[in-house]
Amino acid sequence: DSFFNSIQHAVPPSPTKRHTKISVIGTGNVGMAIAQTILTQDLVDELALVDALPDKLRGEMLDLQHAAAFLPRTKIVASVDYSVTCGSDLCIVTAGARQIAGESRLNLLHRNVALFRKIIPPLAQYAPDSILLIVSNPVDVLTYVAWKLSGFSSNRVIGSGTNLDSSRFRFLIADHLDVNAQDVQAYIIGEHGDSSVALWSSISVGGVPILSFLESQQIAYEKETLENIHKEVINSAYEVIKLKGYTSWAIGYSVASLARSILRDQRRIHPISVLAKGFHGINGGDVFLSLPALLGRSGVLGVTNVHIIEEEAAFIIGEHGDSSVALWSSAS
Ligand code: NAI
Ligand code: LAC
Repeated sequence: DSFFNSIQHAVPPSPTKRHTKISVIGTGNVGMAIAQTILTQDLVDELALVDALPDKLRGEMLDLQHAAAFLPRTKIVASVDYSVTCGSDLCIVTAGARQIAGESRLNLLHRNVALFRKIIPPLAQYAPDSILLIVSNPVDVLTYVAWKLSGFSSNRVIGSGTNLDSSRFRFLIADHLDVNAQDVQAYIIGEHGDSSVALWSSISVGGVPILSFLESQQIAYEKETLENIHKEVINSAYEVIKLKGYTSWAIGYSVASLARSILRDQRRIHPISVLAKGFHGINGGDVFLSLPALLGRSGVLGVTNVHIIEEEAAFIIGEHGDSSVALWSSAS
């Protein structure tokens, strides 16, 4: 007899129920934090892992499979062969060199561009309809490189960008005001990391725009506090890398939130690295920078015409229009 008495008239799942699949390329600190969070949040039917180190890769796969009794049912596969990514809806790329203590993200550029030249083409071949979500650093330039190498339309190539910087910013503001970070709206845009731009005009707490509140209360010192908080955001990664050698948990949750918005077609607005050409006076070339973007099942659905005050726009164009274009020409 079969193990189960068959249930009469059990209806097979509707053929329209799509089988969703995410591939994570690079199963290091960041890739595994992302994978673990995706599983815990039950975001996908199948998770594929890819890495260059076969033993580590198989070990990570087995270790996750052994948690099956505590997780929503998810098929977990792994291979050094990129064909395992076939049919992915979303490919998350974390493969690459990471910073050592005190090292800048830009210092990883040439090593990781060389790596991308090897990993993006097979991804585009095996998962031609997927969305590419780049995490490896320097993430804005590497998102541009992935866009060029994949040949995908720009709405399907994004970088995690300042989604992480903004979550750090929200935590620090919430901690300062002793409120829940989920009730703090605050966007950091531009380049992920050293030269990010805080959208001061976007900060609101419980729906109250904070700058106008501070001005109405003649609380001048708070603006300086906010500026110091932004400096703390910029220093965050250096501090964590000095203490534990890398960052992983916050980026894991940050990228899983992007995966949820995409796979569940949430149409949420995230500050992510997108092709910024034509926005906010950025016309110097094909530049990827973080702007608040509407994210859904087909990738970037739109970029918000967020109100950027002149000083913020000048900083973005000045800092990124020159150095970034120079960087991009060396990277492509
Ligand atoms: P890690 O060294 O722990 O992992 C990197 C993984 O890439 C290793 O397992 C390595 O075997 C793998 N790899 C190398 N070449 C490969 C190839 N050809 N194909 C597949 N896999 C390959 O580094 P970690 O800490 O996971 O960081 C990964 C990247 O993510 C770094 O570039 C880091 O800077 C970046 N990162 C970006 C963040 C962001 O906010 N955008 C935040 C944190 C890290
Ligand atoms: C971070 C670096 C590693 O912001 O990009 O965590």
